[in-house]
Order: sequence, then structure tokens, then C-alpha cells
Amino acid sequence: MADTPQLLNNDLLLSEDGSSTLFNHRFGDSYHSIHGAIDESMLVYLKNGFENSLQTFHTHIHVFELGFGTGLNALLTILEALKNNIHLRYESIEAYPITNSEVEKLNYPERILHPLAKEIFEKLHNSPWNIEHELFPKIKILKREIKLEEMPVLNPEFHVVYYDAFGASKQAEMWTAEMIEKIAKGIVKDGIFVTYSTNGQLKRTLKNLNFKIEKLPGPKGKREVLKATKQ
Ligand SMILES: C[S@@+](CC[C@H](N)C(=O)[O-])C[C@H]1O[C@@H](n2cnc3c(N)ncnc32)[C@H](O)[C@@H]1O
Repeated sequence: MADTPQLLNNDLLLSEDGSSTLFNHRFGDSYHSIHGAIDESMLVYLKNGFENSLQTFHTHIHVFELGFGTGLNALLTILEALKNNIHLRYESIEAYPITNSEVEKLNYPERILHPLAKEIFEKLHNSPWNIEHELFPKIKILKREIKLEEMPVLNPEFHVVYYDAFGASKQAEMWTAEMIEKIAKGIVKDGIFVTYSTNGQLKRTLKNLNFKIEKLPGPKGKREVLKATKQ
């Protein structure tokens, strides 16, 4: 079990697209790009990851996320799944859950301007840890409070993985071949691994695991981001 609650507070920041993010003092990094939290999440995880996997897998998508954090990726993914009327199972791990008062300060429901955004965001954060929970018909969430280092290798059932760790310069232990392999083994054939990082070690590891590597244009402030597809 992870060592919770947070020992150090996060600071609230406003990113350039007007959406909030947090700055984490334990690791000295922000949860999202300061150039736009929602913009980054929409491009790196929703467009490159979820929307691409929908084209291949159509009706049932299993997502795995490293780092639940603010729940922004989860919120955007659930909205997209509801829009497409598909079955979604969203599994996310988190070692250091944010506090309720931090959740209350995040402005995602107001920025996303969707009639269900507030309800989904509240349900996501109020749903219990370590128990699979049905948020809506067809939409299941499992938030696991565990460190990646302590998590066993995943079973091969995921169509898309959002690898959303703090940067390699701040938390190198999240980007080792051992950690990437643990997660990549959980991806089915034609499944997708997406992240904002294009670091060399990551690309070599994924290539060795038989993934096709693509560098795609990044959001503001980032030239390229990574999409890797299991062959
Ligand atoms: C870049 S932030 C993730 C942002 C998140 N996906 C969101 O939408 O807000 C990285 C996350 O990884 C979590 N984390 C840090 N070390 C971890 C570990 N060893 N195992 C699992 N999660 C960890 C952090 O607490 C943080 O929530």
C-alpha cells in the first residue's frame, strides 16, 4: 500500500489554456504542461491514444493509466466514451492521491463546459480506491492506490495505456525498462501506448518489446510526443 496521505502539499497553478494544474513539491514537477493542461491531455491521451484505439477496437475499450493525479485524463476519457456509447473500463494507479481540498480547487468541470463534466468529476473523486466501481451503465473505473514499483506485471487486456508519470529528469525510476515492460506487457496486439515523452530509453524499450514507434506533433511547448503500437 502506498504511503498516503500526501506528505507535502501541491500548489495550484493556472496553465496557459486557462485550465488548472498542480505543482508537486515531492518531485518538483507539474501534473500537466503549464502551456495548457486540458490541451495537453486532449492531444497526447485522447486524440493519440483513446480515439485511435476506438478505430481498432470499436465497442469495448480497456484503458490503463499510470498516475491518476487530478483525474483529468479520466474525466475526458469518460466523456468521450459516453459520446461514442461504448463500454469503457478505466484502470488507473496512483501512489499519492491528491486531497479533497485540492480536488475542489481544480476548474476542469467549468472549463470543459459539458453538462455532465461536474457530475463525472465528483463521481471519479468520490469513488472508493481499490474497488472496481460502475460510474454509469457501461463505464467502470478502478482506481488502485499502489506504487508502480510494487504493482505486478499487468495481464494482457488493455487496448490503450496512458503513461503519465512525472518527467524522467524528476522521477527517473518511473522510466526504467523494468517499469515500462511491466505495463507494456498489459497491452493487447494493436493496442497503443501513449505518453508526452520521447526519451531514448523509452523508445528503445518499446522497440525491443515489438512496438511500432511514432513521433507525433506535440501540444504547445512540446515538439513531439510518442505513440507506440503493439505489433
Ligand atoms: C504527471 S502526474 C499525472 C497527471 C494525471 N494523469 C492527471 O490527469 O492529472 C504523475 C502522477 O504519478 C503519480 N506517481 C508518482 N510516483 C508514483 C509511483 N511510484 N507509482 C504510481 N504513481 C506515482 C503522482 O502522484 C502523479 O499523480
